[in-house]
Amino acid sequence: MIVLGIESSCDETAAAVVRDGRHVLSSVIASQYDLHEEYAGVVPEIASRAHVEAIVPTIREALSEAGLGLGMIDAVAVGNRPGLIGSLLIGVATAKSLAWSLGKPLIGVDHVQSHLYSGLLIEPSETGAESIALRDPSTLFPALGLVVSGGHTSLYRISSFTDLKRLGATIDDAIGEAFDKAATILTLPHPGGPNLDRLARSPGANDRAFDFPISRLGTESLDFSFSGLKTSLLYQVRGVPNARDAALAVAPPLTPDRQRDLAASFQRAAIASIILKLNRAYASFSNTPPRALFVGGGVSANSRLRTDLQAWSADHGLPLFIPPMRYCMDNAAMIAGLGTVLLQAGQSSDLTLEAVPTTAV
Ligand code: KG4
Ligand code: ZN
Repeated sequence: MIVLGIESSCDETAAAVVRDGRHVLSSVIASQYDLHEEYAGVVPEIASRAHVEAIVPTIREALSEAGLGLGMIDAVAVGNRPGLIGSLLIGVATAKSLAWSLGKPLIGVDHVQSHLYSGLLIEPSETGAESIALRDPSTLFPALGLVVSGGHTSLYRISSFTDLKRLGATIDDAIGEAFDKAATILTLPHPGGPNLDRLARSPGANDRAFDFPISRLGTESLDFSFSGLKTSLLYQVRGVPNARDAALAVAPPLTPDRQRDLAASFQRAAIASIILKLNRAYASFSNTPPRALFVGGGVSANSRLRTDLQAWSADHGLPLFIPPMRYCMDNAAMIAGLGTVLLQAGQSSDLTLEAVPTTAV
C-alpha cells in the first residue's frame, strides 16, 4: 500500500510517500525558517501564506522522488491536528481535494502521535534497521511514548498505534521552547536548541557548575514544567530582580566559560526532569510493564537526551525507537506511516475532516 502524507501544522510544508507504513520512498520538507527568523518565532499569517505557495510543488517533488504518479497512490494522509489553524487548513484542504479527485481514502492524523511513530520509519538504504523495525510491532505493546518538540512535551501509554492515551504534558513551556528561550538568554544565535546542545558538549563544559531546579510538580505528576528552570537561568545571567541580597542582584559577566557551563547545567536539569517523569510513567504501568519506548519530536535530536534515553532503555531492557535526525523534526513520512496504520484499522476520514488546533488525546 502506497500512502501520500501531507504535513503543514506549523512552519514546514512537507510531503512524503511511504510504502506499507514503514518504507519511506520520499520525504520532502520545504522549510519556512528564513521567513520567520527575523521575528524569532513563527508568525501564523506568514506561515499560512507560505504553505499555500509551497504545498503543490512539495507534493510534486515527493511524487517525483518516489518515481510515482498520483494515480499510483492508494490513500492520502494529512496531519489535521494539532497546530496553527491557518497552517493546518492548507494541508487539510489540499489532502481533501486530492483524495476526492483521485477517489482514494483520506486519513486525518494527529501530528503529536505521528512523532511517536517516526522511529518505525525505514529507508531502503537502511538495511541495518530492517531487523528491529520490521519486527512485528504488536509484540512491542503496551509501550511508553515520549514526545519532545518545539510545541509539545508529552508522555503516552501506547496500547497500539490506534489506541494511545496521553499520561501527562507540559503545563507551561514545551521543552524545545525552553531550549530556544534559554539559548536567547545565553545570547546564542538561531537555531537555539541545536546551538545550546553543541555548546553544552563543547570541551571543558561543566554540567554541575550551576544547580538548576529539576521540576517534579506533585509526587505522582506525569506533567512537565520548564518555566522555573528558564527563570533560574535568566536570574543567573541578568541578576535577581529586587533581590534582598545585593550580591544576587547583579550577575557576573557572561564570559564564554560561564555561558558554556550555564548551557551544560541547563541542559542537564531539563533532561533530568524528562528522565524523572519517564521513571514515574514506567511505574504507572504497574502489572503490565512497557515493552518498548517510542520517542519523537525535534528535541529528540539532542545529543545528551539521546544518550540518556539509550542508557535508560538499556537499564529497563526495552527496545528504543528514536528516529534518525531527519525524522525528529516535522516531516510528512511520519504522517503517511501512521496514516497507513489507521487506514488498515478502518479509521479513515471523510470530506468533513476538520483542521483542529488541539491534540486528540
Ligand atoms: O518537532 P519540531 O520541529 O517542532 C514542533 O513540532 O513543535 O521541533 C523543533 C524544536 C525547536 O524548539 C528546536 O530548538 C528543538 O526542536 N531542537 C533541539 C535540538 N534540535 C532541535 N533542542 C535541543 N537540542 C537539539 N539538538
Ligand atoms: Zn512536530
